[in-house]
Amino acid sequence: MNLAGKRALVTGASSGIGAAIARLLAAEGVDLVLTARRKDALDRVAAECAAIRDVRTDVIVADLGTPSAGSVVWNAAIASGPVDLVINNAGFGYFRRFDATEWTRDAEMIQLNITSLVELSRRFVDARRGEPGRAYLLNIASIGAYQSVPQMALYAASKAFVRNFTEALHDELRGSPVSATCVCPGGTRTAFHAAAGAGDYSWIANASMKSAEAVALASVRAMARGKRTVIPGVINKLSCFGVRLVPRWFASWMAGRVLGQPKKALPPRAT
Ligand SMILES: NC(=O)c1ccc[n+]([C@@H]2O[C@H](COP(=O)([O-])OP(=O)(O)OC[C@H]3O[C@@H](n4cnc5c(N)ncnc54)[C@H](OP(=O)(O)O)[C@@H]3O)[C@@H](O)[C@H]2O)c1
Repeated sequence: MNLAGKRALVTGASSGIGAAIARLLAAEGVDLVLTARRKDALDRVAAECAAIRDVRTDVIVADLGTPSAGSVVWNAAIASGPVDLVINNAGFGYFRRFDATEWTRDAEMIQLNITSLVELSRRFVDARRGEPGRAYLLNIASIGAYQSVPQMALYAASKAFVRNFTEALHDELRGSPVSATCVCPGGTRTAFHAAAGAGDYSWIANASMKSAEAVALASVRAMARGKRTVIPGVINKLSCFGVRLVPRWFASWMAGRVLGQPKKALPPRAT
């Protein structure tokens, strides 16, 4: 993929899609700055990456769900060298009615899924201005970005923001050495669902789940090719295309049917 020798900042690198992207980039010879809240899990992923190929791995423990954490992480990342790739992957959601949860959880989601992602994108684009080397921004949205999703109202809206923001950035940056790519995964087998009080969806949602490795590969390939948007998986591509052909209320109703009703208790927020 022609990424060897570059240096990537990966958020949410302690598990799931972020950890899979980190391992993939390590195999490509990319030095890594891995960030998340859990140091032990980050250290484990860093050790796995270093075992795959002789790349440098730095670890930054930070809570991107708190104000200004994006800038703190950025400054810590560039303290030991320039960053050529930013992978804005950290994110969470809950599978519950909006009136069944509390504002602190929403505020943290907006901060993590939107504000920190924009903050890191801003710092990256500013740092690359006038720099000749090829640079890549990869922002993780979701197929939830394609329609409203009852029981995941704020999460899907946050991912619609990520998609629109990243696709517009892609268009603005066209012809420059920096590219912006948006990935919209469908259901992926990670810890996301347990943290969301979910995972007991309808049969069709469970049947279309992909592995974190498959999503990571599609994402990194699309990023390296400078693509605008990638939706991993044929069923997911079809569903995102299909919503353009039906009224918005129907797409929203369908999303609710596909997910089914929440059956699991919502776990307390991790700290
Ligand atoms: N799994 C799916 O079905 C699916 C579908 C579409 C989109 N996505 C998106 O894919 C991305 C990765 O999710 P995943 O599926 O890989 O889930 P995951 O395994 O739960 O990973 C989430 C990552 O985000 C980090 N994170 C969570 N809260 C954080 C905070 N406040 N500050 C810093 N880091 C935080 C977690 O690390 P710590 O807990 O160590 O902080 C973890 O590394 C998310 O943006 C998610 O919305 C997932």
